[in-house]
Amino acid sequence: MHHIVITGGHGGLGQALHQAFRDTGDQVRALGHAELDVTDPASVAALLEKAPAPDLLVCNAGFTDDRLLARLDAASFSRQVDVNLHGAFRCARAVVKGMIKRRSGHLVFISSRSALHPPAGQAAYASAKAALIGFSHSLARELGPWNIRSNVILPGFLETPMTAALPPDRRQEILDQHCLSRFNTPAEAARFLVYLQHHLPHTSGQVFQLDSRIHPIS
Ligand SMILES: NC(=O)c1ccc[n+]([C@@H]2O[C@H](COP(=O)([O-])OP(=O)(O)OC[C@H]3O[C@@H](n4cnc5c(N)ncnc54)[C@H](OP(=O)(O)O)[C@@H]3O)[C@@H](O)[C@H]2O)c1
Repeated sequence: MHHIVITGGHGGLGQALHQAFRDTGDQVRALGHAELDVTDPASVAALLEKAPAPDLLVCNAGFTDDRLLARLDAASFSRQVDVNLHGAFRCARAVVKGMIKRRSGHLVFISSRSALHPPAGQAAYASAKAALIGFSHSLARELGPWNIRSNVILPGFLETPMTAALPPDRRQEILDQHCLSRFNTPAEAARFLVYLQHHLPHTSGQVFQLDSRIHPIS
């Protein structure tokens, strides 16, 4: 039985992760936004730093506010970077000492395909999600000697509250980019994470894209 902590644990993917790890027999803390605000250092300290380090921390909390650059004000840019990147930094830093002491642990960062192939209007979100990849790669090198893994997931387009307001024509455009003409689901993405945690102990420093898109968005 592993001890799993999930940030943004009440969102679409967060709930699927909670269910999948619980079904595997793991002990799961899926922390909702109201309980853990990843932008608030005091909240992160209280919920993560003062608790025993988990076997797996999934930095899943995310926020997007799509705008073209001319309409992207500094507050929106900062907010997106704060939640998606700084939030992951705060949470990873809060658990790492315990993992080092125990000489084991796993950090998983939920990034996005937008990190590699960003569409127009996602400059802030894509920047933050792309930075997570560099962050994770560096941690994989730094923490490997302590048997701590770090991996990134690009879960694919998921039908969750985050994407609920997307106009139907944009949704169709995204669907058309999929070789299999279907979206991934939160449950499938969650099953992959369970597999990565329990059956791929020698895998670190990797980026996993879970959908069927190949080419950059046109
Ligand atoms: N859906 C997709 O197509 C897609 C694609 C690629 C990557 N992702 C990534 O997958 C992850 C999960 O997203 P999702 O699709 O499950 O969307 P979601 O349902 O909106 O879940 C995101 C969760 O993060 C929480 N959150 C936002 N700001 C937070 C903060 N400051 N502190 C703690 N929690 C915070 C949200 O809580 P509130 O709603 O209460 O603010 C929400 O529950 C995100 O990192 C997202 O960027 C999603």
